Amino acid sequence: MATTKSPEHPRLDIDALLADPGVGIIVCCGAGGVGKTTTAAALGIRAAEAGRKVVVLTIDPARRLAQALGLTELDNTPRPVAGVDLSSGGSLDAMMLDMKRTFDEVVEAHATPEKAAQILENPFYQAVSSSFAGTQEYMAMEKLGQLRAQAEHEGTWDLIVVDTPPSRSALDFLDAPKRLGSFLDGRFVRLLMAPAKVGGRAYLKVFSVGVDLAQRTLSRVLGGQMLQDVQTFVAALDTMFGGFRERADVTYALLKEHTTAFVVVASPDRDALREAAFFVDRLGEERMPLAGVVVNRLQSLGAAALSASRAEDGAQQLADDGADDALTAGLLALHADLASTASRQHAVVTRFAAAHPDVELSTVAASATDVHDLDGLREVGRLLAG
Ligand SMILES: Nc1ncnc2c1ncn2[C@@H]1O[C@H](COP(=O)(O)OP(=O)(O)OP(=O)(O)O)[C@@H](O)[C@H]1O
Ligand SMILES: [Mg+2]
Repeated sequence: MATTKSPEHPRLDIDALLADPGVGIIVCCGAGGVGKTTTAAALGIRAAEAGRKVVVLTIDPARRLAQALGLTELDNTPRPVAGVDLSSGGSLDAMMLDMKRTFDEVVEAHATPEKAAQILENPFYQAVSSSFAGTQEYMAMEKLGQLRAQAEHEGTWDLIVVDTPPSRSALDFLDAPKRLGSFLDGRFVRLLMAPAKVGGRAYLKVFSVGVDLAQRTLSRVLGGQMLQDVQTFVAALDTMFGGFRERADVTYALLKEHTTAFVVVASPDRDALREAAFFVDRLGEERMPLAGVVVNRLQSLGAAALSASRAEDGAQQLADDGADDALTAGLLALHADLASTASRQHAVVTRFAAAHPDVELSTVAASATDVHDLDGLREVGRLLAG
């Protein structure tokens, strides 16, 4: 729907973005279910077929999409995608984030082998390494860091397209390191850490009484073995990460580089666009580079010239005439419904555009079916490019 925005509103030029050799990382973010994974995959194919050497990092893709991208092996490394036109000299690899495996890799990379083995075998680690708040977001960033290093050292890729996890709020992605950091710095963890740190120091006896008491309570709740696992794990993690926050800051600094571009995806409804607006503002505050906003899954109309009210009138007229044409009347009513959805969407997108005159926009009409194969992704890519 080319008419969704005022003609003077800046259009997000997707092909220029994908062709820009200065852009090395594209991050697709947005609220849950708006089309982040689809957009990331569509951008990846389009860029590869235009000649870029691309790797797409997807997170939790739908099963059929994963199959279409050849993501059947879960080994946490990128694999070539079959069926992509490489005649322009590009290439396309894709991978699906294995959060647990990435966490393990981080442990292995930052601890001595003995310590790493101790952590990886710890039952508490095994239970929680996939369930900290913000872990998935943070591990996506860790993986991005790894891919970037590989791209630099081996020259494998010149563009990394990153999908972000299915969180309720787009902001979760940017808040993850803080949340994970505050978990590790948190009082609960400090309490558990205390015995490991004070062990044997007599002058902390008074303090230890309180800790002992808390420990006894915890060990009743968690069970003794569990408590010990938690303590070992947290102590190990703490020495390994040192200042976790500083480390997370380094990882997230990638997002502020001028070679990174954020593409914020939203669906054409008030809540999603409000969320997109928050996210755009936050990127501005954090000085993270926004490419633009994609409004995905706009209602498209077969007969755009027929307005909702005229279709309704027509349906009513047929009914009044006692016409025995239920099919036509039904179709007109359906059309009226779709047309009113389309005009509601048009209104919210126009309002968003007016409130953000500098934010470049791209709109993508909803396909008739889910997007689950390469052709579907190419079509989304074409629509993204306008
Ligand atoms: N333009 C489109 N037309 C039709 N279907 C679409 C379109 N974009 C996305 N979809 C479908 O919508 C569903 C959700 O898309 P997708 O998985 O890309 O969203 P997401 O933002 O990654 O979701 P999550 O937050 O759960 O990760 C998928 O079934 C996808 O095929
Ligand atoms: Mg997704």
